[in-house]
Amino acid sequence: MARPICFCLQYFALLMSFGAIVSYARPPLQHPQEEPSYLKFVFNATELPPQDYYDYIIVGGGTAGCPLAATLSRAYKVLVLERGGVAYGKPNLMNHEGFLTTLMDANPFDSPAQAFTSEEGVSNARGRVLGGGTAINAGFYSRADREFYQKSGVDWDQKIVNKSYEWVERAIVFRPELRDWQLAVRDGLLEAGIDPFNGFRLDHVAGTKIGGSIFDSYGKRHTAADLLSYAKPSNIKVSVHASVERVLLASSSPHAGSRLSAVGVAYRDHMGKYHHALVGKHGEVILSAGAIGSPQLLLLSGIGPRPYLSAWGIPVAHHLPSVGQFLYDNPRNGISIVAPIPLEQSLIQVVGITESGAYIEAASNVIPFASPPHSVFIRTPSSPLYLPVATLMEKIIGPLSSGSLRLASTDIRVNPIVRFNYFNNPVDLERCVNGTRMIGDILRSRSLENFKFRDWFGGRSFRFVGPALPVDQSNHRVMEDFCRRTVSTIWHYHGGCVVGKVVDRNFRLNGIDALRVVDGSTFGVSPGTNPQATVLMLGRYVGLKILRERMRYKS
Ligand SMILES: Cc1cc2nc3c(=O)[nH]c(=O)nc-3n(C[C@H](O)[C@H](O)[C@H](O)COP(=O)(O)OP(=O)(O)OC[C@H]3O[C@@H](n4cnc5c(N)ncnc54)[C@H](O)[C@@H]3O)c2cc1C
Ligand SMILES: *[C@@H]1O[C@H](CO)[C@@H](O)[C@H](O)[C@H]1NC(C)=O
Ligand SMILES: *[C@@H]1O[C@H](CO)[C@@H](O)[C@H](O)[C@H]1NC(C)=O
Ligand SMILES: *[C@@H]1O[C@H](CO)[C@@H](O)[C@H](O)[C@H]1NC(C)=O
Repeated sequence: MARPICFCLQYFALLMSFGAIVSYARPPLQHPQEEPSYLKFVFNATELPPQDYYDYIIVGGGTAGCPLAATLSRAYKVLVLERGGVAYGKPNLMNHEGFLTTLMDANPFDSPAQAFTSEEGVSNARGRVLGGGTAINAGFYSRADREFYQKSGVDWDQKIVNKSYEWVERAIVFRPELRDWQLAVRDGLLEAGIDPFNGFRLDHVAGTKIGGSIFDSYGKRHTAADLLSYAKPSNIKVSVHASVERVLLASSSPHAGSRLSAVGVAYRDHMGKYHHALVGKHGEVILSAGAIGSPQLLLLSGIGPRPYLSAWGIPVAHHLPSVGQFLYDNPRNGISIVAPIPLEQSLIQVVGITESGAYIEAASNVIPFASPPHSVFIRTPSSPLYLPVATLMEKIIGPLSSGSLRLASTDIRVNPIVRFNYFNNPVDLERCVNGTRMIGDILRSRSLENFKFRDWFGGRSFRFVGPALPVDQSNHRVMEDFCRRTVSTIWHYHGGCVVGKVVDRNFRLNGIDALRVVDGSTFGVSPGTNPQATVLMLGRYVGLKILRERMRYKS
């Protein structure tokens, strides 16, 4: 008989949403460090003037915004406006052991991880801090797959793509050290036929590989903000606690019907005071506010579907029907088990790149389970029980199912309402069935034997936390039902300002001058196994392209 363990619902919810948590007895490794040099040009929005001029204004100091700003500052005056604060110095953000605590502390209003829930009822999170998603994510780093470049609608210059990845990787990407659970999963993936073993690789190759991580060997997180150290300090200002409310637009000529141009932005500081940042001739406003933030800001600036904006009473500046449409989230499904042996804390390190539409990843954590209030087993119920929990998950490629974003308010601080329509497309469901079957194969591998408990009568079996896989994994119906019933997110949501629909192949807004969108909102599919490598590359890449473009037109 299993011992009855009762645990806090909150932890349980998160576990379902990834396996998880902290407060390991092991003291954190000490690592001498100096304050990062970029902090010298990070200001509180309250310190900025009510009006100021720049060449480039970047909205969002996140995964794409930071490398983009650093690159443009080599030749131009740049302002970055970030609604959140600074991550550096906050232990939960800066250490891998704080990953779940940060997510548990997420609320819709003022936490570094901003909680939101899709209309399907799946809890999710957005970065609200300098570094964006890279300051709260699981750190796994792997470049885009070949199909991404072919299908993204962009004429990628592959040489600049590679140079951009390398620029990012030199600064913030590390080789992880695998321990028990990750090693077992690596071997289990190979036993399940996801081969060959490709060793440590940053690029996308079919088979099993060890990917990169933005956590170093001390477990310390590096973020997109570190890339600001590449900036030219005299040319850049980064403002935190600066919430951008509108893109300011003006006609480029006095003639009726002439094109609109972005001329700046209006933002508010922590004290509620308004500021205007304006761009000069040849300057641009660039939105890097992420897949939720960028379409939301366009809508609030009067750029979007005319009837929809009118219904909200927002003056229509430019009718652009696809803003906020084609919003995607890759469903995540999997299992968690309690291990009979102590486990390392690991976020994602190994990945199985299958050829049947799914990627397999793993994590392990030590989770505090609150003891039952009137336990017959434990006399002092005040101290939690720490249990090692291991998770195996699959993420489908694509997805093909898409949803959309709607405003919940005209206040930029309020999360929009999002709907992802998980598994609306039957191909997505089949990919999930394929991926979860693969998890079944891995659970049956010899490499995972040590993670089973000894039963009565000498057998061995896994002890699942949350739903186990269906017993009959060959039954398609039952597997489909498992996919739908246990869907959660891997936080790779993207789209909303997709290339070809809202922006052109140079990330310029269709129909408006001096305005671009450069972030994950431009993706129509999730690149590779995990998106951050590609989003970081994108920031550097577009920065380099703009510098080249302007060099060409100079003189
Ligand atoms: C919990 C979690 C775990 C993840 N794990 C991984 C992983 O292991 N590997 C991986 O590759 N990917 C992972 N991801 C996904 C990855 O981090 C994101 O896809 C990526 O960071 C998105 O980058 P972005 O530039 O599009 O947006 P973001 O990095 O979110 O940047 C947007 C920035 O804009 C700011 N902003 C928004 N609106 C405004 C406004 N109005 N005014 C001013 N500022 C604004 C935000 O505060 C934010 O800093 C994870 C994501 C999460 C949330
Ligand atoms: C920024 O200013 C606000 C309001 O004055 C204050 O609460 C906050 O602590 C400041 N933050 C930083 C990083 O200086
Ligand atoms: C870019 O890098 C990829 C993966 O490492 C490699 O296969 C490709 O040949 C490189 N392309 C160029 C143009 O350097
Ligand atoms: C599911 O897996 C099977 C067997 O590997 C494969 O033939 C099929 O194409 C996969 N389905 C999808 C949608 O990728």
